[in-house]
Amino acid sequence: GKLRRPFVLANWKINMAPDEVGPYLQTVLPALADESRVEVGIAAQDLYLGQMLAATQASPLTIVGENTHWEDQGAFTGETSPKALAQMGVEYVLIGHFERRKFFNETDETVNLKTLAALRNGLKPIVDLDEDLSAYSHLAPDQVILSQLEAALRGVTADQLAEITVAYEPTWAIGSGEAASADQAQEAAALIRQSLTNLYGQDLAQKIRILYGGSVTPDNAPAFFCQKDIDGILVGKAALDPHKFLKLVNQAQ
Ligand code: G3P
Repeated sequence: GKLRRPFVLANWKINMAPDEVGPYLQTVLPALADESRVEVGIAAQDLYLGQMLAATQASPLTIVGENTHWEDQGAFTGETSPKALAQMGVEYVLIGHFERRKFFNETDETVNLKTLAALRNGLKPIVDLDEDLSAYSHLAPDQVILSQLEAALRGVTADQLAEITVAYEPTWAIGSGEAASADQAQEAAALIRQSLTNLYGQDLAQKIRILYGGSVTPDNAPAFFCQKDIDGILVGKAALDPHKFLKLVNQAQ
């Protein structure tokens, strides 16, 4: 088997009403084994993080932020401080999700600043690569993910790299019902790992987890888990149903 610990991560985005959070957790938490091979997490909007952290204190469920600002503090109305996220007990934060890049003007530069800010504060970044060709008209899809990766990691030391997870979420697969094939996703993950090898050496690159995201469901997930370079999944829509989410967790065992 793989040495890297599988990661099953739900991304709620801004779905889930306040009165649905408790029941969702009440369904999921009792079903999670304390000492599981699989790491299980939920990324939720900031508003819910405090409640979720409190509810999961005695649980292996990992709570993940969906975004962070790049400055630790200051006059940035409406933003979330990476320092505050870390002090609250949040362990991971998504960085540069496709929707952030598309709707909120995030660029390779802000993704890099946010990655560095997360690391500086002890948050583990989950760096999202989206293969969005529109922002890079002169590049082929492969080159887009690699240039996004390189840009995100600018100034990241080898020690820091160990804290990073990479997510490959091709824009055309997100919310479309058309997941990448397992082969396609494996190819992209292998390319990402090769690039990490070039940048940081093989030992380190072999330790970094690479997740696939985009229309993952219990039907297609098993094929992703079998791939050599895919270490987990990042799930939007299907994970809004706690039973489907648990099914995905079980499939990763
Ligand atoms: O971050 C996960 C997400 O972008 C994928 O969404 O709904 O296609 O699973 P979905």
